[in-house]
Order: sequence, then C-alpha cells, then structure tokens
Amino acid sequence: MMNRIAVLTSGGDVPGLNAALHAVVLIALKNNVTVIGIHDGYDGLIDGRFFEMDLPMVRNIVDRGGTILRTCRSNRFFEFEWRKRAFEQLKHHDIHGLIIIGGNGSLTGAGLFTREFEFPVIGIPKTIDNDVNGTDYAIGFDTASNTIVEAVDKIKDTADSTSRVFVVEVMGRHAGFLALRSGISVAASAIIIPEIKPDIHKLLSFVEHNWRIGNHSMIIIITEHSIPEGGMGLKKIFETHYPEFDTRLTILGHIQRGGSPSAFDRTLASTLAYHATMALLHGKKGQMAAFTDNKFKFIPLSEVANKTHRVDDELMKVASQLSILI
Ligand code: F6P
Repeated sequence: MMNRIAVLTSGGDVPGLNAALHAVVLIALKNNVTVIGIHDGYDGLIDGRFFEMDLPMVRNIVDRGGTILRTCRSNRFFEFEWRKRAFEQLKHHDIHGLIIIGGNGSLTGAGLFTREFEFPVIGIPKTIDNDVNGTDYAIGFDTASNTIVEAVDKIKDTADSTSRVFVVEVMGRHAGFLALRSGISVAASAIIIPEIKPDIHKLLSFVEHNWRIGNHSMIIIITEHSIPEGGMGLKKIFETHYPEFDTRLTILGHIQRGGSPSAFDRTLASTLAYHATMALLHGKKGQMAAFTDNKFKFIPLSEVANKTHRVDDELMKVASQLSILI
C-alpha cells in the first residue's frame, strides 16, 4: 500500500523546484498519502534527514527560487555501500516510494537505486542546462534563459553606447541550450556552443569585418567550457588579435540559477510533479516524468542514464542564419 512517500531535490538548484514540491505535497495529501521531505538531496537520504511535510510548509512557495528542501551534489551516492545505507533509511522510516527531482547525474543514480533495491522511484527532470535525455524541457531552463536575456539586453545598452565588444559567458556545462536560446533572443553577433567544434578563425574574420564596416558594438554569447578558459579564453584571443577593440567580459554565473520561476517553469514543474506523484501512487516505478512533443509522458530511468539531450538541429539552423554560430 503506497501511503507514505518521500521527496528530495538533488544536484544544482533551479527556479521551479518549489513549485514541484508544492504540487507533490498537495497531490499526495489529497490522496491521503503522507509526504516525507528529505533535506540536502542524496546526502540527506543517506543520513536520514527526514521530516513530515504539511500544507503550511508549501503555501506561498511556487514563486520562490531555490528549494525549501535544500540540495547538494552527493559523491557518496555514487558508491553502492552508501546507496544501501539510503535504502535502509527508507525502510527504517517506512517509506514506500520516492520522488527524485534532479538532473542527469541524479537521475542516473535514481535509475541505479531503483534497479538495485527494487524500490519504487519516479524521477522529475530539472536543470538549467536542459540536457536531460528523454524530455524536451527540464525545470529551470526557461527561467534561466529569461534571466540571461534580461541581463544581455542591459549589456547591449552599454555596448552600443560605448562601441565595445562584449563577451558574455553563460552556463550550460557541456550543452549549448542556454547560449543558443538566449543568443537568438538577443540577436547576438555570435554564439559559441560546445556541440560545434569552435572555428575561431571564422569568428575573428566576422568580427573584423563588422568592425571595419563600423559595427563596433558586438555581443558574443559563449557557453562555459566550449573553449579552454571559456569567456576569459575568448577575451584573451580578442586582446591578442585586436588590441584596438575595447573588449569586455561578463560572466553571468550563478545569477542564472536563482530568481522567481517563469510561468512556463511553474506550470512545467507543477504538471510534471502532478504526473509523477499520481504515477507513484498507482504503482509505476523506475520512470521519469517527461515533457516531449508538447505531451507529458513517462520514460524509463534506464534511458535517461548516461545519455544527454542534444540541442535542436532546427534551432542551430536558425541561429547560424541570424548570428555566427560556431
Ligand atoms: O548543471 C547546472 C550548472 O549550473 C551548470 O550550468 C554549471 O556548470 C554548474 O551547474 C555549476 O555548478 P556549481 O553550482 O556546483 O558551481
């Protein structure tokens, strides 16, 4: 009988996690199921940081960034012995099913865990990088893209007024979703993503041409890790080749992870959490709730593990026509 479930958030925080937690708690309580919150992701699971969640705890949190459960990147959960300890904690607390809200690494761990201990787990994808396999959108990506666009719109004002070249480094780890989407949205001069082998020569000739014809203000969006030293690496290349350009670097950093979630992320988080909770209560296990082709679906956690969602070819085509995409 599934009448006591637990929920945790794992990996980097994203806007929309609280909206997901709000939905999990509401749906569970409506079905007379107790919800146990676990603090600090997998580390909290291993160490038994469990507490019962009630309605007042999730009231007025849908608009808040971060996660009321807190989160962490756990190294221990990669090891079997610690996963066994986590399983024992769940048994000890009489938990019958678990919802794990996480990114690639966390959901890979979730897949392992559910298989090893035959424990019912449903995953929910979240990451601003949007690189979770099996879903078109992960919670947090939309808000982070909007944060970048808002920041770059401001940078453009100063770039235009001062005739400067601005290199803007965005997050994404090894995925170009954030750079691609924000780059198109701000009509960046150039977009650099890790999926394409960088053609610095092409970028330099483009920038030089622009400069020569009087377009001195340029915005170049670069994904961290797409070239050695990311944005800083690109700034150094510019300074070496064109000392006459007044190049500036902005690393947006963790500002991209915070803030109030967009309406899209709130709806995505609430809907994924609704489906995940209902599925768990009805005996589904080892699956991830996904949003693909405008539909909510489930895919096995084994198909999420060790794979990544690739950037859209169509979007790359558009970006390569509107900007220099390298
Ligand atoms: O995976 C999300 C992400 O924000 C990446 O875009 C970034 O590379 C990384 O996490 C930063 O991690 P941390 O917050 O641990 O520095």
